[in-house]
Amino acid sequence: MTAQLIDGNALSRQLRTEVAARAAALKTQGITPGLAVILVGDNPASQVYVRNKVKACEEAGFYSVLEKYDASLSETELLARVEALNNDPAIHGILVQLPLPQHIDDHKVIEAISPLKDVDGFHVASAGALMVGEVGFKACTPYGCMKMLESIGMKDLRGKHAVVIGRSNIVGKPMAMMLLAANATVTVTHSGTADLAHHTRQADIVVAAVGKRNVLTADMLKPGAVVIDVGMNRNDEGKLCGDVDFDGCKEVASHITPVPGGVGPMTITMLLVNTMEAAERAAGA
Ligand code: GUN
Repeated sequence: MTAQLIDGNALSRQLRTEVAARAAALKTQGITPGLAVILVGDNPASQVYVRNKVKACEEAGFYSVLEKYDASLSETELLARVEALNNDPAIHGILVQLPLPQHIDDHKVIEAISPLKDVDGFHVASAGALMVGEVGFKACTPYGCMKMLESIGMKDLRGKHAVVIGRSNIVGKPMAMMLLAANATVTVTHSGTADLAHHTRQADIVVAAVGKRNVLTADMLKPGAVVIDVGMNRNDEGKLCGDVDFDGCKEVASHITPVPGGVGPMTITMLLVNTMEAAERAAGA
């Protein structure tokens, strides 16, 4: 079997077109969705990410501001900027790019963002809302993975067994909650799991989110399983690759996400969706 690709670029284009239409509709009420992105320091990967986020906002017709600060910015100064943006009616979403310089406490900064503007979905209130099924913002990467499953007709996962590899606060844990909310039976595996293959071989859906190459190989898959690869690594030739042995797994899976062009573009797309949602909620739409 050769698996069908789940094309994150194509799905992103479709979802971003829908967001742009919603933004245009809200503009007729005099409201433009606004996202503020804060970057502290000069981490090269972060610079690329924030540039892409701002560009995506512009393309969707949003208002966006990129605030760049020197790595020497104090925690107090950063908290003051977050507070000012919390109170700025033109801003509906606030994103503080991580990682922050060591002298700044990430957790404290994220918790300072108003939950009404937490479009990254990292605030404890957002994580709690997801846990209990209340209205909040879903973390963008796992939210994008759910949209990819939906795109192949897997919206209600009743009777399906999903295995998540990784338990990070940003992907693994919220992913498990979203799969559970869609009625899947969910197993969360991690560095302390004894026999990973024993679990993945039972899975109808495997989500790999570890940040290490070849965590999932063809022999670990049930034939026809759906594979979602959240990894972003470099192989020995310096080429971008995921956590999954793509060439092997594509011969066993029914559907698989490529890297690049899979989950990656979906993360920014769901940031736009969340910002749009924040603006609509603020407008009482
Ligand atoms: N750093 C890497 N990914 C992300 C993300 O999705 N949001 C933020 N704020 N920082 C990140």
